[in-house]
Amino acid sequence: MDGGEGLTIRVPGDKSITQRALILGGLADGESRIRGVLRGADPLATGRALGALGVEIVGLGGSGDGEVRIRGRGLRNWRQPKGALDLCNSGTGARLLAGALAAQPLSAVLTGDASLRGRPMRRIADPLMRMGATVDYLELDGHLPMRVTGGTLAPLGHESAVASAQVKSAVLLAGVGAGVAVEVLEPRRSRDHGERMLEAMGVGVAEEDVARGWRVRIPSPAPRLRPLDMEVPGDFSSAAFFVAWSMLAGCPAPCMVRGTGLNPTRAGLLSVLARMGGRIEVVPRGTAGGERVGDLRVDAQAARLQAVQVGGDEIPGMIDEVPILAVLAARAEGVTRITGAAELRVKESDRLAALAANLRRIGVAAGELPDGLEIEGTDRPLSGLVESFQDHRIAMAFGVLGATPGCEIRVDDPTVADVSFPGFWRSLQRVRKWDSRGVGRSRAARSPAGGTANSCDAIGDRCLVVAIDGSAGSGKSTTAAAAAARLGFRHLDSGAIYRAVTLALIESGRSGSALEHVTRGELSGLAIDVKWREQGMEVWAGGRQVAEEALRSDRVTALVSQVAAVPEVRAHLLDLQRSAARGPGLVAEGRDMGTVVFPRAEVKVFLDAHPTERARRRLLQRGIRPDAAEIKAEAARLTRRDRRDASRSIAPLLQAGDAVLLDTTALDPAAQADAIVRLVEAAGTDR
Ligand code: S3P
Repeated sequence: MDGGEGLTIRVPGDKSITQRALILGGLADGESRIRGVLRGADPLATGRALGALGVEIVGLGGSGDGEVRIRGRGLRNWRQPKGALDLCNSGTGARLLAGALAAQPLSAVLTGDASLRGRPMRRIADPLMRMGATVDYLELDGHLPMRVTGGTLAPLGHESAVASAQVKSAVLLAGVGAGVAVEVLEPRRSRDHGERMLEAMGVGVAEEDVARGWRVRIPSPAPRLRPLDMEVPGDFSSAAFFVAWSMLAGCPAPCMVRGTGLNPTRAGLLSVLARMGGRIEVVPRGTAGGERVGDLRVDAQAARLQAVQVGGDEIPGMIDEVPILAVLAARAEGVTRITGAAELRVKESDRLAALAANLRRIGVAAGELPDGLEIEGTDRPLSGLVESFQDHRIAMAFGVLGATPGCEIRVDDPTVADVSFPGFWRSLQRVRKWDSRGVGRSRAARSPAGGTANSCDAIGDRCLVVAIDGSAGSGKSTTAAAAAARLGFRHLDSGAIYRAVTLALIESGRSGSALEHVTRGELSGLAIDVKWREQGMEVWAGGRQVAEEALRSDRVTALVSQVAAVPEVRAHLLDLQRSAARGPGLVAEGRDMGTVVFPRAEVKVFLDAHPTERARRRLLQRGIRPDAAEIKAEAARLTRRDRRDASRSIAPLLQAGDAVLLDTTALDPAAQADAIVRLVEAAGTDR
């Protein structure tokens, strides 16, 4: 992530383009190939809905970045779904699918989560009904769940009351699907990704600036859509959070957000930031998927940001960036006034109300206007718990503010960021870490408002996980502890948890094979837990902390391997171990960390060393002088234990396919920790 001269960040693929690629790909004649897709909760919901409609999508799930292939079924060939299509939080998914469904000879129910069920659907349902589709609201008028029954449609000229790309795209999709001419007039130009993609698929789209707004026409839709073969650019809306963070944190060296989509109907925030005093250079990097792409280079912030007036024509081109603008305004000099943004009241939340309430909660004077906000900037320390309102952009905007000097802000439900930016909190932690090195910056400049260092550590996003597995005596514990200390990560010693279970079972009077016949209920009764303290992990059993000496006692050492092989024990401890993955990062050490507990860990290392060296270390650890005979006997014991662990039927000790093998025979713990820190840094380079 750190470039030579500054900080480099990459953001996930564009949400609007990904959504359209999936839906249009499903209507194409043949297989579309899309790279750089956003694997956020919204596109995944759309992907599942398309799957239920018979569209085969390969490579969308999972954690990889690989190409996604969509096997299009042609324009009017989707399959009747068996159940309702749940679009979860995705307004774009629901509205665009409604448009596409209007032309299909089938009937489908669209639904979503509470936030989506609260959003208006008439704006798309009315024009679709005028074309001939049937829309039935199943609960509340104008809202999801609603049934769309499609079929033969008539041409339509639609004048939309709002500048909305979702409305425009829904009507265009219905027209293209049904093969009839459509025209949409919107009061202001909204994002045009759909039009660009339709053109790439062989559909002629005419656009013009007219007295009453912006007109888009498809006079004669193509009889079939050519499959797409494209790269999705980075999402400008996601990039905006890191541009804003660099401005607010007063980055000491330039911060570069790479590979960002710069479609002119999306990047309106840039000119507003320039008016606020931001110095952002756009470095063009050609095009991707018919969209301009570039790097955004944010220069060190010399002077304080200035308040701005934003409204009217500017809003559609920055509609999703108002939350982050509001947060910048909270730190600008003067009163910022945002108007013409009434549409924000019907986004994933009522964003005007949410922003005003949250700003006030942390001590910023903010007022709601019917169609906007007034925010008085301040340089006082800001602190408090804010609400996400089930809205990813609200959560991320306040997360950014919380990651700047002089702010102590917690977001109640950070997980909502997954909708458009999985890994957001992790990226934010990384940039904060980079910044806290304070390259070239004085202490005073780092904390202008005199507040304590901000904290996002309690945020529950999946954090960076380093999984270290290895044979007995290979140096796992010392290396993991040293690496965790160097990285500022938690250190999970999973062996200590298995030891606590073993001890508790022994203390309950079990021995021999009775140690293996334990039910999940009995295990719950042991109340095994871990607590995280400044100095590290504590293991608790039965409501009391278990002493280190008791965990390491010979009787526990002799039986732990037997207990750890019991499937019920392993299953019981899974969630407890996984719950350690919070905060900036986790170094998890054990025997199945990279294979079972954290199969998606960013860094996996398998440690090994020659058996005699491992035996020597073990003896020294136990305070025994390692002479040749002792070493030989201990090496034999270790080899036996490894063989037993490697051959047990559940979670055997083995090197994960994607783990790096580190032979520690000739390495001291510091050198081993070094190697791990380097792997973590390398893993952080691309994202
Ligand atoms: C989107 C359009 C915008 C935007 C949303 C995505 C799209 O909504 O706010 O995040 O992909 O078409 P509206 O069309 O309601 O303005």
